[in-house]
Amino acid sequence: MRYRLAGPGCGIPAYSERPREHCRGQSLATLGVMSLRLSVIGTGYLGATHAACMAELGYEVIGVDIDPAKVELLNSGQVPFYEPGLDEVLARNIKAGRLRFTTSFEEAGNGADVHFICVGTPQQAGAHAADMRQVFGSVEALIPFLSPGDLVVGKSTVPVGTAETIEGILKASAPSGVEVAWNPEFLREGFAVEDTLHPDRLVIGVRSERSEELLRAVYAPITAEGVPFVVTDFATAELVKVAANSFLATKISFINAMAEVCEAAGADVTQLATAIGYDTRIGSRFLAAGLGFGGGCLPKDIRAFMARAGELGAEEALTFLREVDQINLRRRAHTVDLARALVGGNLRGKRVCVWGAAFKPNSDDVRDSPSLDVAVAISNAGADVVVHDPKGLTNAERVYPNLTYEQDVLKAAADADLIVLGTEWDEYRELDPAVLASTVKGRTIIDGRNALDPAAWRSAGWTYRALGRPNA
Ligand code: UGA
Repeated sequence: MRYRLAGPGCGIPAYSERPREHCRGQSLATLGVMSLRLSVIGTGYLGATHAACMAELGYEVIGVDIDPAKVELLNSGQVPFYEPGLDEVLARNIKAGRLRFTTSFEEAGNGADVHFICVGTPQQAGAHAADMRQVFGSVEALIPFLSPGDLVVGKSTVPVGTAETIEGILKASAPSGVEVAWNPEFLREGFAVEDTLHPDRLVIGVRSERSEELLRAVYAPITAEGVPFVVTDFATAELVKVAANSFLATKISFINAMAEVCEAAGADVTQLATAIGYDTRIGSRFLAAGLGFGGGCLPKDIRAFMARAGELGAEEALTFLREVDQINLRRRAHTVDLARALVGGNLRGKRVCVWGAAFKPNSDDVRDSPSLDVAVAISNAGADVVVHDPKGLTNAERVYPNLTYEQDVLKAAADADLIVLGTEWDEYRELDPAVLASTVKGRTIIDGRNALDPAAWRSAGWTYRALGRPNA
């Protein structure tokens, strides 16, 4: 360990012990934590953002990735994926000399004292459990280059018990005093920089006061702004993350279950959501009914959580998540059925334009994208499908090369018998339904995200159908 702590808690009182104004604008040098050097292993959505944002706070940061092309791109100041605002933070900090990327674990080990593990934990092929090879692989790769007293901090979303396993590995093969901590990440794609620099809370699972002090020091510039800092044990920290994502997924599936009932009863789920959201115990966020949740996190996290609970003998506690998953997938199937019904009962030979390939707006991430899933199902039913997305087409084409892609939103809709809005980009909201009416063959649209104004579309002569809302 090559830095010096300035005293208990690095001499930085907890936020609650000092007036907020006192800390604002205070430089890290004054706070006494500048000497900490950080490495970030994995440069995906999480790692690249974490590395850039930690450099933005003033730290010297080395990002590590096994992909040389990605490392080269990052070193040139470019972000290999779409994330609003990240390119500026990245470029600024590379230019300032605080941030660099490498494929060498040796450089990371020698050049840093606190090592953040930010690699992916995707769903295992053919199973629900998380594939942990990247996490354990990166810890093993780092071990030969760690120095006594270094701290390894897991940020990836993992099955509960992972930190303890890593602790055992470090005790067996790392230099003395190397510890592990767990510090789950809660950032949303599309808001990654904002969520990293101004999170709702920071959570750390630690085994020792020393690890706690180190992480308090690292995050001092953030906690100085009044961000709650929760210190707990390994297992609780790991569980906080999957519990949070499970709750969010449950909230979305709850409102989508209400959408199913609204469809049966002729009621309007958007008004229902607004009305129940006024109750502050419920809250209005994450109550947008539609095609449901996708992406690289919520779907695989609830499945991995169920799988892990099963291993722990607590399977029954999470059976409701199976229903959450089913409700979510049902919305996609329902949208395909609705598409079939709206074109006269058979999709074969029909031209269908799908708006949206990314799993949500302001992202180019197409992992488990509900919109793309619907596009593929409609294509498999024999329709001629054209997909539009402002940012996600390159990734979509890589995964589904057989679909047709079009970068111009109006051209994508040309001669369509049906449009399906699957991702609520602002661009779609801003379109004039009257202008579009002259491009398409059939004025029929499914608003899979309740993103458009039904009255505007209907008055322009469209058959407008939405999920969970009355037909007219
Ligand atoms: C999610 C969590 O929100 C983050 O807190 C967490 O850090 C992240 O997973 C992760 O585990 O890394 P993210 O996957 O970026 O973030 O996306 P969300 O904004 O949560 O959206 C997830 C899905 O839910 C999207 O497909 C979105 O369209 C859908 N959604 C969201 C709804 O269908 N309705 C809503 O009301 C909100």
